[in-house]
Amino acid sequence: MNWDDTAPSTDDAAPAGPDRLVGADADGEDTAVEAALRPKDLQEFVGQERVREQLDLVLRAARARGATADHVLLSGAPGLGKTTLSMIIAAEMGAPIRITSGPAIQHAGDLAAILSSLQEGEVLFLDEIHRMSRPAEEMLYMAMEDFRVDVIVGKGPGATAIPLELPPFTLVGATTRAGLLPPPLRDRFGFTAHMEFYAPEELQRVIHRSAGLLDVEIEPDGAAEIAGRSRGTPRIANRLLRRVRDYAQVKADGVITREIASQALGVYEVDARGLDRLDRAVLTALLKLFAGGPVGLSTLAVAVGEERETVEEVAEPFLVREGLLARTPRGRIATPAAWAHLDMVPPQHQAGGNGQQGLFGA
Ligand SMILES: Nc1ncnc2c1ncn2[C@@H]1O[C@H](COP(=O)(O)OP(=O)(O)O)[C@@H](O)[C@H]1O
Ligand SMILES: [Mg+2]
Repeated sequence: MNWDDTAPSTDDAAPAGPDRLVGADADGEDTAVEAALRPKDLQEFVGQERVREQLDLVLRAARARGATADHVLLSGAPGLGKTTLSMIIAAEMGAPIRITSGPAIQHAGDLAAILSSLQEGEVLFLDEIHRMSRPAEEMLYMAMEDFRVDVIVGKGPGATAIPLELPPFTLVGATTRAGLLPPPLRDRFGFTAHMEFYAPEELQRVIHRSAGLLDVEIEPDGAAEIAGRSRGTPRIANRLLRRVRDYAQVKADGVITREIASQALGVYEVDARGLDRLDRAVLTALLKLFAGGPVGLSTLAVAVGEERETVEEVAEPFLVREGLLARTPRGRIATPAAWAHLDMVPPQHQAGGNGQQGLFGA
């Protein structure tokens, strides 16, 4: 495997705060252990049945033809397995893989250098492909379609384009923001896989598998408890597993039971649904101070003592996804599920009683 050491490790996305336990982006420790936990082939890759089946066909057919696989685009939230799948694609094709990322390719020349050094059949993994520069993107169009690039030599009127033939290769692009890809780029992928959040049962399998690799003893209930708090994301599941393992070692006999998992994640302030301290603070303020809203984002942010951006980009996406909070033109409102989750009763219900349905329904 060939790592492009110019690749910056983090992106400039959300102000995630330091090492958020339920953050989906990889932190230093994740990067160190993830290599050991990555499934090596499609068989081992848990969940994403549709994607797996389709990809399996694409790769099998290419192998049968003795050809290089079509370019593949992987889109989905952080931590769902895009990097893992890119490595699996290379492994299944028996091909080497070169890893780089959009932000690492600032100039078309950077891309030309990478492309021209590819071997036949090699997989080029381009992470965060939506963050590539425009000129590089245009060079990539031609490379993907015709396996050719024009290398510009010199500057100004004397500049000349030298065409360069490339060996056939497979581009695997990954993006968290498929909508940001220009259509001409999207169209050049033969196959696009949309990765979904994982069901709790699938995460339970991920956790079991990882526990085996980490040599941790875990009961099915323990794995289920961690899975339920992992926000549909294998990276978070693996991270919570490591924290629970620490707790089990220090406070118990090392075996992860439901009880131990629940206590451990209580210590780390990750609640039964995967909300952390910040998520709960936002939700609590919305319910307690603003009676469930609607309230403006800025006001809500002041109430929890956070920046607007932190509330909007770090806390809200998951709260919205979980159906606990809704963004409306008049402001943020809590859903009935939010009241239930925090074990609180909406004011209408307190006042009304007697079968009255109130604003929030039964
Ligand atoms: N389907 C899966 N089965 C098992 N483990 C997975 C799966 N998807 C992701 N993982 C694990 O989650 C972690 C993050 O996956 P990664 O491929 O780096 O995500 P992404 O590139 O989408 O951010 C890795 O440790 C990987 O082993
Ligand atoms: Mg990745």
